[in-house]
Amino acid sequence: MSNDAPESRWFHLCMADDLASPNAFVTTRVGAVPLVAQNIKGRVVAFRNVCTHRFAVIHGEPSGCGPLRCPYHGWSFDADGVPVGLPFNPTDFQLEAEGRRRLALHPASLARCGRLVFVRVASDGPSLEEELGSGLFARLAALSDAFPRRGDAVEPEDGWETIETANLRLHLAPNGALLLHSAAPPGADRRFSRTVTFHPANAPITTNAELPA
Ligand code: FES
Repeated sequence: MSNDAPESRWFHLCMADDLASPNAFVTTRVGAVPLVAQNIKGRVVAFRNVCTHRFAVIHGEPSGCGPLRCPYHGWSFDADGVPVGLPFNPTDFQLEAEGRRRLALHPASLARCGRLVFVRVASDGPSLEEELGSGLFARLAALSDAFPRRGDAVEPEDGWETIETANLRLHLAPNGALLLHSAAPPGADRRFSRTVTFHPANAPITTNAELPA
């Protein structure tokens, strides 16, 4: 796999708060590979979003809240990707511990830059900081921490700073708003693009904050 292959690159997925609740999940697709990041009992982990039994997609929605459970035969998976709940296992599958471990989900890479969460298909490769560069990594981390509150959508205007990296485009308003757009990775449809406006912590709370797609 070349370093330019989509499977080797980091893609922004969501914000850390999107995955803060137990069972919260966010999905995407990179090329032909569906990915999911999921909170399982407080651990946030990432896998290929494909069941290892008969290869059904586990979570079909771009985001939501629900256990990591395959909709086909109902296998559920723990934070190591191992199937731990197998309905009718004694009669239909007869999988003991070792057999279940062999059928663990394929891990994906997950990394944070401040509150920004990124995923990568490949489990090995340069760190997110190496790929973004340390200066930009630090800037994005600081911005994500400085604009924690989702709020009313804004439209970028002349004079706003624009930062582009990976699948991200950020527009920074001088009067204090951060518009973050993450494009769907190659091979993914537009359901997996996400646009959110953030405001500083002391900005007034608004009621029509955008949620992840
Ligand atoms: S395909 Fe997932 S449990 Fe059978």
